[in-house]
Order: sequence, then structure tokens, then C-alpha cells
Amino acid sequence: MEEQNRIVVTVGHKAKPEHFVLAREMAEKLGAPFAERGNISLAAIRERYGVPFVMIAKERLVVDTQDGELYFHPGMAHLRLKNLRRGESDHLLRAIDIAEGARVLDCTLGMGADAIVESYGAGATGEIVALEKSPVVAALIAHGLRTSEGERPSTVAAMRRVHIVCADYLDFLRAQPDKSFDAVYFDPMFRHPFTESAGIHPLRLLADPRPVSAEAIQEAKRVACRRVVLKESSKSEEFARLGFTEFEGGKYSNVRYGVMRAR
Ligand SMILES: C[S@@+](CC[C@H](N)C(=O)[O-])C[C@H]1O[C@@H](n2cnc3c(N)ncnc32)[C@H](O)[C@@H]1O
Repeated sequence: MEEQNRIVVTVGHKAKPEHFVLAREMAEKLGAPFAERGNISLAAIRERYGVPFVMIAKERLVVDTQDGELYFHPGMAHLRLKNLRRGESDHLLRAIDIAEGARVLDCTLGMGADAIVESYGAGATGEIVALEKSPVVAALIAHGLRTSEGERPSTVAAMRRVHIVCADYLDFLRAQPDKSFDAVYFDPMFRHPFTESAGIHPLRLLADPRPVSAEAIQEAKRVACRRVVLKESSKSEEFARLGFTEFEGGKYSNVRYGVMRAR
């Protein structure tokens, strides 16, 4: 089902004029209906429109799902940036071998934490393009990255520099010239067993769950000048299936980064 048929946009209970503006903007962007809220509960809105998701414009943009709320939060990136400022290294940045001014194609934006860390690592002259298949997730995270405040100026600057494109990574990769990015990165949903997830992570209800194809890796190798990186659980057979033989990551960590060097 197309996502615009699965979501309705409304405003929070104490909506200010700017929330109405944002809600209408989001409804238009997503091709979704805008629901007049009044005193109606979210459950009633969901029922009236027959959709599983309600996007609410309030102090921050939230998507209400049966498994909880989905919203942008720089929390996960926060700790990693704190460690980087202390001079510690980050496994992802080592895997993509980040340098000042790097051009990184992050094929799987998700909640945006990795993209913020990449952006911080590549600095003001870097270029981070982050792709997301789900229009709702792309719109939610793009809004968060564009407007979120209250962090250190260097974190805010890193968030603002991430350029989000709502696209399928295979389509996007096919359209890129050879060697147009330094690194191409994939962090797919596939490794997470669907049964384990249901009540835990509302992203899973919206995310594209397909595994990375061999063709996507081939295209990524063509587009990357230096590295193609895949994040997976440490024991994943995806690394072998897709031809990754070199790894980065903590010895005892349950995730690893598979690294392919471009020739
Ligand atoms: C595990 S999450 C990525 C998490 C992210 N690295 C972060 O730091 O928050 C995977 C995301 O990739 C998206 N995705 C999966 N397949 C995709 C595709 N073919 N094209 C674009 N995005 C895709 C999913 O919708 C999901 O939001």
C-alpha cells in the first residue's frame, strides 16, 4: 500500500498557528489528508481515516503508531559525538575511512544517527547525502535535522549539512556517475528478526525491510571511489553472501561493519 494511504496528518491539542502551517505542509508533501483535530482522540482520527499512522505537528513532529511514537531525536548520535570530541574513534567513521571534506552516500537514513556522525566526521566541507525509501520517515527526519536545537553548535551544524533524498537506493545508485562519492554505506533492516521487533521499534512499521541485493553492492562499488560499507549483526551471513571479507568494529560488539575497498 502506498504510504500516503496509510497516514493522516493533524496538529497537537494545544496547536499554535505554526503547527497548522507545518501540518498542512507535511500533508501536502506526503500527499496525505489533513485531519481537523478539534477534541477528537488520535484513535478516533485513525478510525475515521482508516489508517495505521497519524503524523502530529506539535512542538516536535511525531508519528503515532500502534507500537509507540516515532520522532527525530539526536540522542544516539549525541554520545558518539561526545566520544569523538574526547578524541575517541567511531567504528563507522573508521570503516568508511572518513576524512575532512569526504563525500558520503548513506543509503539508509533511518533515524539519522549515523548520518549525523558521518556529517560531523566529514566536517564543514564534507557532503553527506542520505537516502530513505519511506516518505514518512524521510519527511520526519528531514524536519528534525533542519529544526532541532539545543545541541552544541558543531552538532547542529552537522545535522543541518545532511542532505536527505527520499529514494530507493538502487534507483539512486544507478543514476550516479562512476566514483561520485568517497564512500557508500548501507545499514539495512534485514538483520532484525521481524517477530522480535513488533512492540519495540515503531520505525519497523514504516521501514523498507528488504535485504541489500548483490546488484546494489555492485552499483555501490562503481559509485564509490574508496569504500563500500555494510553494517550487520556480527554473526550475519549477509557479509559472506555479499562478498565482504574485511571488517571494522569492536571485538565484543554485536554489530560489525563489512568493508570493501574500491579499486
Ligand atoms: C536500520 S535503518 C537505518 C538506521 C540508520 N543508520 C540510523 O543511524 O538511524 C534502515 C533504513 O533504511 C531504509 N531503507 C531500506 N531499504 C531502502 C532502500 N532500498 N532505499 C532507501 N532506503 C531504504 C529503511 O526504510 C530504514 O529507514
